[in-house]
Amino acid sequence: MIQSPARVLLSGGLSISRLVCGLWQVADMEKDGSTIDPRIGADALQAYAEKGFDTFDMADHYGSAELITGTLLSRYPDEQHRPVAFTKWCPEPGPMTREVVRKGVEERLRRLDTDRIDLLQFHWWTFEHPAWLDALHEMQRMKEEGLISALGLTNFDAAHLAVALADGIQIASNQVSFSLVDRRAAGALSDLCGKTGVKLLAYGTLCGGFLSEKWLGKSEPIEIADWSRSKYKRFIDAAGGWEPFQAILGAASQIARKHQVSISNVASRWVLEQEAVAAIIIGARLGESEHRDDNLNVFSFALDDEDKALLDAAFETTLPIPGDCGDEYRKPPFLTASGDLSHHLDAIPSIYTAEPVPGRPERLRVSSGSVWEPIAGYSRAVRIGDRILVSGTTATHGGDRCVAPGDPGAQATYILDKIAASISALGGSMEDVVRTRVYLRDAGQWEPVSRAHGRVFSTVLPANTLIEAGNLVGDYEVEIEAEAICG
Ligand SMILES: NC(=O)c1ccc[n+]([C@@H]2O[C@H](COP(=O)([O-])OP(=O)(O)OC[C@H]3O[C@@H](n4cnc5c(N)ncnc54)[C@H](OP(=O)(O)O)[C@@H]3O)[C@@H](O)[C@H]2O)c1
Repeated sequence: MIQSPARVLLSGGLSISRLVCGLWQVADMEKDGSTIDPRIGADALQAYAEKGFDTFDMADHYGSAELITGTLLSRYPDEQHRPVAFTKWCPEPGPMTREVVRKGVEERLRRLDTDRIDLLQFHWWTFEHPAWLDALHEMQRMKEEGLISALGLTNFDAAHLAVALADGIQIASNQVSFSLVDRRAAGALSDLCGKTGVKLLAYGTLCGGFLSEKWLGKSEPIEIADWSRSKYKRFIDAAGGWEPFQAILGAASQIARKHQVSISNVASRWVLEQEAVAAIIIGARLGESEHRDDNLNVFSFALDDEDKALLDAAFETTLPIPGDCGDEYRKPPFLTASGDLSHHLDAIPSIYTAEPVPGRPERLRVSSGSVWEPIAGYSRAVRIGDRILVSGTTATHGGDRCVAPGDPGAQATYILDKIAASISALGGSMEDVVRTRVYLRDAGQWEPVSRAHGRVFSTVLPANTLIEAGNLVGDYEVEIEAEAICG
């Protein structure tokens, strides 16, 4: 009989349980304004830790979860032999100065009552706002100072993970939704993880409990009270609805009977067996429900080819979840508990401000703050009537720094975010783009740039010209300009 979950080294010797105990459910349990007594909560966590489930996942917005875990950690004076605490910092988009970042991270240290965060994961709401790179560089400095053991991301797609890595950030992990229902992470993100060694931490593995015997053959629920299931019902709907979901449950049930395990074990096992996945995170409702013994069975069997073929056949009946990993937090359809971002943010601020061109009130412009814009006399973008023209844009960050030096694909991703920000400040969107021109230093590097362009424009299909420009000004590998017609 299996006694405790398998373990894995995440990074730099950080040993974690491959089945992490997720504490978002604490926020749901406290949503009426009550708080769990931290000592009682810590007793519950200690019971998990003593059975080998000693790795806990939290975030700044998971109710009192960090305080409960802080109480638990204070019971283990030897730092080498204590439970492992992951948390997340999910700041509102805005300037990520040294002070802002330190304040955000220090609050996590204080609430966790620790000198060092085992894994700090960073979430960012909009890549149109480029300050996410400033935040990561500052957190990396805090890691070098010993305040953070490992740095992770959450809800990043492959393209932006690649930008972070190419810009010199040491990323240990990316926490994303990954389940029998949401298989997006098995694509480009897993490929990149395979090449770079970044590990995935998978959540939503049980779709809030929907992937269990409890829902096999049952009719579709109308009213759902808890946040987690409200969220994953949206995923089930996006994947084609209740009928295809029942096909997945049916296949998982057949496999479960064969191995004498539960449907949840099969769902967990399928995710754990994905090459890039270090661990799955399963939510726990402290003091309300307890699935520890059943979840240990995840480590008692393996899926064989026949099992995988059965699941693949069930997948055929479903639709792919739209967009890329993390898009559910960044664009409609918002696959969140509330169906929008109202639990998280009031608004997404624009990085640029539209203003009239002096003496030409019919023209609007945005400036990206480059020192050269007033000297050379140009705008990042200009709107005239329904047309928006975006200047040749490079991966310049904070006025003078070239992002992702030597990596044209990552630079193209960063540039396209900047173009999107310029167009949206002028009232348009990337959907309105009708022409792009791409200037490359080295024509041999066309492929990563074309793939970055395709990721953004595969359904918009603007006219495009690709030009080798020999010596681009500065260290840049690529420069892109765009034109949009709104409405
Ligand atoms: N990074 C992010 O953006 C993000 C987003 C969401 C979640 N997360 C993390 O992931 C964690 C997982 O939460 P989740 O919301 O995704 O939910 P989940 O893990 O998919 O589902 C958890 C629920 O599944 C049920 N369950 C657990 N083990 C079971 C078993 N063996 N048999 C039957 N049912 C079982 C329990 O439901 P009952 O209690 O009803 O029995 C439990 O509350 C969160 O706590 C959080 O740490 C991260």
